[in-house]
Amino acid sequence: MSDLIRRLQAAMPAGIKPKFTTPEEWQAWQLEQGRKDSERIAELNRVNRLQKILGRSGIQELHRACSFQNYNAELPGQRNALDKAKRYASEFGSRFGGFIFSGGCGTGKNHLAAAIGNHLLSKNKSVLVVTVPDLMMRFRETYQDGAKVSEADLMNDLCNVDLLILDDIGVQRGNQNEEIVLFQIVDRRLSAKKPVGMLTNLDVEKLTALLTERIMDRMRMDGGMWINFDWPSYRKNVRSGPTNLEE
Ligand SMILES: Nc1ncnc2c1ncn2[C@@H]1O[C@H](COP(=O)(O)OP(=O)(O)O)[C@@H](O)[C@H]1O
Ligand SMILES: [Mg+2]
Repeated sequence: MSDLIRRLQAAMPAGIKPKFTTPEEWQAWQLEQGRKDSERIAELNRVNRLQKILGRSGIQELHRACSFQNYNAELPGQRNALDKAKRYASEFGSRFGGFIFSGGCGTGKNHLAAAIGNHLLSKNKSVLVVTVPDLMMRFRETYQDGAKVSEADLMNDLCNVDLLILDDIGVQRGNQNEEIVLFQIVDRRLSAKKPVGMLTNLDVEKLTALLTERIMDRMRMDGGMWINFDWPSYRKNVRSGPTNLEE
């Protein structure tokens, strides 16, 4: 082996520092590479499996272009939301606290959540944004005869992504099964110190009634944050804004 290293060194251009100079260093480097590769492969498999189950990537096409840069923060509340979302993304991994964006339709909850998600995807983290109605449909599919994916598989995959964002919580009238599934996902993730993001038009009281006090307490732990998106819908701006054809 040392012969190989000597030959490799001889072939190296002058001024280039080799990653290893002894067989021991070479062996350690090989081991480290192997460990990194297997971690990356496990992660890829998880992401691929999710794509197979949900038939799409972690962030819907519609929100792939959402970033912090193209979020327009004119109102103080929007600036606060933008700052906190940015900080959440840059500090991701140091704490397991989640986030809850609460507010009306078109206020930019999905935009900022996708901006966080896109930032994390660029850092090779796995992210999944899924609406609760869609999720419930996937769970119902697992209960059918001949289902390709078991309920346990789906649950495992949802619990393994680095960040899971549950969208449209409370949009449909919850049934008991929905509440149990939601509770299980959130409870399992938070017990494993994996964060959950939530997008909802419910206020604190209604969300607490849906998810229970226990889940809400966990959501607040370790840097968890609640942001009210209490400004008008942005969709009006989109129609009569800077792209106005009359200009
Ligand atoms: N402050 C903002 N700056 C730029 N675009 C925004 C802003 N708020 C919302 N949007 C855009 O408006 C549309 C609706 O926002 P969305 O995030 O889907 O709202 P919500 O999830 O709260 O219903 C999206 O296309 C989004 O990118
Ligand atoms: Mg939305």
